[in-house]
Amino acid sequence: MGLYFNQSLILTFFLLLLLAANLVTFSQGQGTRPGFYARSCARVESIVQSTVKSHFNSNRAIAPGLLRMHFHDCFVQGCDGSILIDGADTEKTAGPNLLLRGYEVIDDAKQQLEAVCPGVVSCADILALAARDSVVLTGGPSWAVPTGRKDGLVSLASDTSNLPSFTDSVATQTQKFQAKGLNAQDLVTLVGGHTIGTTACQFFSYRLYNFTSIGGPDPSIDSSFLSTLQTLCPQNGNGSRRVGLDNGSENRFDNSFFANLRDGRAVLESDQMLWNDNTTKSLVQRYLGIRGLLGLTFSVEFGRSMVKMSNIEVKTGNQGQIRNVCSAVN
Ligand SMILES: *[C@@H]1O[C@H](CO)[C@@H](O)[C@H](O)[C@H]1NC(C)=O
Ligand SMILES: *[C@@H]1O[C@H](CO)[C@@H](O)[C@H](O)[C@H]1NC(C)=O
Ligand SMILES: *[C@@H]1O[C@H](CO)[C@@H](O)[C@H](O)[C@H]1NC(C)=O
Ligand SMILES: *[C@@H]1O[C@H](CO)[C@@H](O)[C@H](O)[C@H]1NC(C)=O
Repeated sequence: MGLYFNQSLILTFFLLLLLAANLVTFSQGQGTRPGFYARSCARVESIVQSTVKSHFNSNRAIAPGLLRMHFHDCFVQGCDGSILIDGADTEKTAGPNLLLRGYEVIDDAKQQLEAVCPGVVSCADILALAARDSVVLTGGPSWAVPTGRKDGLVSLASDTSNLPSFTDSVATQTQKFQAKGLNAQDLVTLVGGHTIGTTACQFFSYRLYNFTSIGGPDPSIDSSFLSTLQTLCPQNGNGSRRVGLDNGSENRFDNSFFANLRDGRAVLESDQMLWNDNTTKSLVQRYLGIRGLLGLTFSVEFGRSMVKMSNIEVKTGNQGQIRNVCSAVN
């Protein structure tokens, strides 16, 4: 009797475990899940991580570069590695993607993975893992990256118009995120990724000199920060010069970016506008912790929003392939 009781308890326990496992799988959505390659390529995460780390050690710009690249991949054709494809009129040749960096990191990791488990790991997954590793390397949070994406077959420059732009209003930014299943909190959180990295003068110097129809700079820029930016980007100066997106902390993944938004020290107009809209402003305030219990913790929410983003229009099964090299379809 006792034995039977124990057995049925154990059985119930395993049934519950199975159920829980199913729930976890469903909550990842789209068929991706952490540890997808546990049996087929157990070293995938450590190989990607060490590759990103070695490139990062010689060039810090790799970290924001890979984070941005993953984002730009996901918004166009879903997270399917379409950004990585070389050729005339592919996504990477389009205006918004011209300054992305880190393609060689993905190619390097792929080459090493092909040596240990050929034909198994998708380029889209390598990019998703590399983006997470980049955040960790700059002092940010870690999170479990669901894997199991297939690589896409299509990459067209003309598809990149739905990428958010540095002049987009909050309404437009919100609508572009909504079209990908991401809400206003995801928007503010993922824009918070601008806590690392740089932009070029050409993308914001229009704010510094003749912004409004009456002339003069963008009035939302803090006056001392305005002179800093004007010194860095003189009128008719070198538009390729790089300036940190998070003044004072461009190499560290932290939440000072949100304090900069509050203080009129955002570099891009689209970032500063998040402080001018009631909905996004209140989310920024919650990251700054001035609403007590309503506070949001950036290091927790960032991983959550990244997982949501990394599941945008994922291709699984025979919707895609595992590329042999990341820069070309098989
Ligand atoms: C400022 O911009 C306005 C409108 O685009 C233009 O008419 C004017 O000539 C510009 N002024 C300067 C000083 O560039
Ligand atoms: C940040 O902005 C302040 C105020 O304008 C300026 O003094 C400082 O040099 C800036 N820091 C960086 C790293 O650009
Ligand atoms: C403009 O700035 C870029 C990036 O800093 C630099 O590589 C380039 O040489 C500069 N061009 C000129 C004409 O100074
Ligand atoms: C935004 O908030 C302010 C102050 O709480 C309020 O006066 C204004 O009507 C709000 N604007 C919108 C569009 O909701």
